[in-house]
Amino acid sequence: MPGSVVHERAGELFSRFSGDKTNGMKDGINNIGFSVPYDIAVARTLRRTTREEREAALAEACYNTELVPQELVYVDLHTDSAISAPSTAQVAALIGGGSPEAGSGTTAAQRFREIFGFPFVLPCMQGRAAERIWAKLNVREGTVVPGNMLFPSTRYHIESNRAKVVDVISEKAYELFSDDPFKADLDLAKLESVVKAHGPENVSCIYVELAVNSCGGHPVSLANLREVRAFAEARKIPVFLDACRILENSYFIQQREPGWQQRSIREIVRETCSLADGLTMSALKDFLVPIGGFIATRDEKSYQKASLQQFLDGGQPPAGALAALALSLEEIFSSLTYVQSRVEQVDDLWRKLAGKVPVVRPAAGHGVFIDAKSFLPAMPPERHPAEALAAYIFAVSGVRATKGPPLTKNQIERGIELLRLAVPARRYLAGHMDDVAEAVLYAYSHRDEIRGLQRVEKPGRSKYDPPLFAPAG
Ligand code: F0G
Repeated sequence: MPGSVVHERAGELFSRFSGDKTNGMKDGINNIGFSVPYDIAVARTLRRTTREEREAALAEACYNTELVPQELVYVDLHTDSAISAPSTAQVAALIGGGSPEAGSGTTAAQRFREIFGFPFVLPCMQGRAAERIWAKLNVREGTVVPGNMLFPSTRYHIESNRAKVVDVISEKAYELFSDDPFKADLDLAKLESVVKAHGPENVSCIYVELAVNSCGGHPVSLANLREVRAFAEARKIPVFLDACRILENSYFIQQREPGWQQRSIREIVRETCSLADGLTMSALKDFLVPIGGFIATRDEKSYQKASLQQFLDGGQPPAGALAALALSLEEIFSSLTYVQSRVEQVDDLWRKLAGKVPVVRPAAGHGVFIDAKSFLPAMPPERHPAEALAAYIFAVSGVRATKGPPLTKNQIERGIELLRLAVPARRYLAGHMDDVAEAVLYAYSHRDEIRGLQRVEKPGRSKYDPPLFAPAG
């Protein structure tokens, strides 16, 4: 009924939740409020520390901010994984209690099926647990797996099945300061040449990470995913997603990809999944839980094998974690502003820094990435500029950033050096983000004071342990 109140209200909600900024969040009485779709039920007290205390802690932690004690951290931007604030209903579920907010009793797998559209869904402990099982079932020895700068755990599980990961991400992913909206797209020409060189029968699958962590959180477009899908289908190669940041990827599609502005995040999530044969997902990031992940597939046999493998590994998530996961899916997909509020907080931090310090462009959804090389141009790579900058920021402010995912070979060859300020969802307020920006801007204006680091070794440590440093000579 065009012109009716119901119709007008629907249109208003539609434009608001579809991110149509021209209609504005606050341009009329019906649009006032709800830009932060939660309030804070439990708070943690933070102690004001001194610079001397933080410097002593840094020396004790061998100048690796990963190793400083949590009680000395003011704002923790180490990761966006498993440290988001849970909802009150999730907490009740995690400790095994019932709650009036506990939802309809739908299981995590059922809810995932309804939202994401995969018929077979296996909840897992976390992302890498899902990858371990999925790679074992789908990656054949001696084959190749093209991907777009996959996360180290995904690469590890593929390679541990004796296959080779080949990076086919677009060249745009290496440009730190251009404004291309979809820098994590796969390069179809590179993909074609890899598949031609090895033969489609020697390609186990194509793995596509969404909102690619290693290159700065850049999204993959639906147009690109559709091209990848068509290419793969014609050669009978399965396409799998690493979907742990699918919400942020979907938000950027809604904001940036022509034709998707009027579609909801839920529709975009569904469309993204429709282009894949399966996925692995860590629910510790976008889905706000401390334990949980998924394998999803269209193939019943794969699902059965994955279930059996998980049972044999002893890897089933506990009941409380599954209940929290089901609730989280329900809460996120029934609060249409949640994703917008999450990404806008990161965007606000990015805007406070962009143009003043060298941050990777355009803004990402889970963190702000600083180009440490341009921040400290006089410091050579062997003096570890990203770690040195993180140590300095911690010393002056108590804000903890860490280097972020290890770089790929191609990034290292191009001299890329990033420091990630990962923003955990729903945890910090605008005041915290102001302090983070102030600390980074202070570090930039005092960058001549920042001393480089050198690696130190201690006996008995493995190559997977966090590296240790000392101030350079
Ligand atoms: N895939 C991506 C893109 C990730 O960022 C991560 C973890 C994983 C898979 C593994 O998932 O931790 O649940 O086993 N990233 C964290 C981070 C550790 O800080 O970015 P997990």
